[in-house]
Amino acid sequence: MKSKASAPGKVILFGEHFVVYGVKAILCSINKRVTVTAEKTSERKISINSQIGNLILEPNKLISEINSPLKPFYYLANKAIKNQDTGIEIKINSEIPLGAGLGSSSACCVAGAAAIFRLFEDVSKEKILELAIEAERTIFENTSGADCTVCTYGGIIEYGKKQGFKKIEDEPNFQLVIANSNIEHSTESMVSGVKTFVIKNKEEFSKLLNQESKLVEDVLKLLKENNPEELGEKINQNQKYLETIGISNNQLKKMIEIGQKTSFGAKITGSGGGGCIFALTNESNVEQSLKEFKDKNFECFSAEIDFKGLNTF
Ligand code: MEV
Repeated sequence: MKSKASAPGKVILFGEHFVVYGVKAILCSINKRVTVTAEKTSERKISINSQIGNLILEPNKLISEINSPLKPFYYLANKAIKNQDTGIEIKINSEIPLGAGLGSSSACCVAGAAAIFRLFEDVSKEKILELAIEAERTIFENTSGADCTVCTYGGIIEYGKKQGFKKIEDEPNFQLVIANSNIEHSTESMVSGVKTFVIKNKEEFSKLLNQESKLVEDVLKLLKENNPEELGEKINQNQKYLETIGISNNQLKKMIEIGQKTSFGAKITGSGGGGCIFALTNESNVEQSLKEFKDKNFECFSAEIDFKGLNTF
């Protein structure tokens, strides 16, 4: 018996890093997906195949002793077969660039939890999300949970660590141009870099938290109006706050400059230090924005909002 699930990647429109300190973030999922297929096997082994490598292990290993980016899948499979006399084979296929701030690992955790656990029982979306966040914590202990949440439910969401998530029902008419710096980054080390900033600059950070919070509240109202110019200004403002907390660099700044010149607004998405930036466009400027990035040799593509979230087959 086989079970298959797919989950979308994501862009953080507003509030990355600040969300770790309790401010609400706004995220949207994008039309690039990870698909995971899981199958029971008679041999009691956990076998994981992906574009970035393979992992074959006996069950019941200590998670802390596994040194592989595929660790979340092992965690999920091991938990699922605890009281079962079976092994599992998992295949992963991703359209989402890896380690680029576009939610590839969260989408893997969500699609992985769904494909693996549905081999044994009918599992609710809430339970899948809970399992996905547990799995994500094996590689990034302090995750706010925002990424897995949007990958599960799709569309645009507001997310607060305390408040949980709320779906934003407005469907604004925008397209995103996403450009990849191709600089590798680790979310964990970027989040700990921000922590150092917070410790050294307590007062400044507390002001920034208030400013970001106000910005997010303004944006929640603006989304209803479908006004890309004003939304773009807020995106540029958010980028300034991200620069203040030190997650940008020269390459990202060059990309932001192109994005801000050719679209309504542009900012880093995700933890920064590398990965991707996005520019807010619509049919009036999407092609021009893509052209400018391509002319300057940046890898880029346009993306639309995915309204489906987790899909199971
Ligand atoms: C990473 O995509 C987003 C961060 O805010 C971390 C998190 O929310 O867990 C940097």
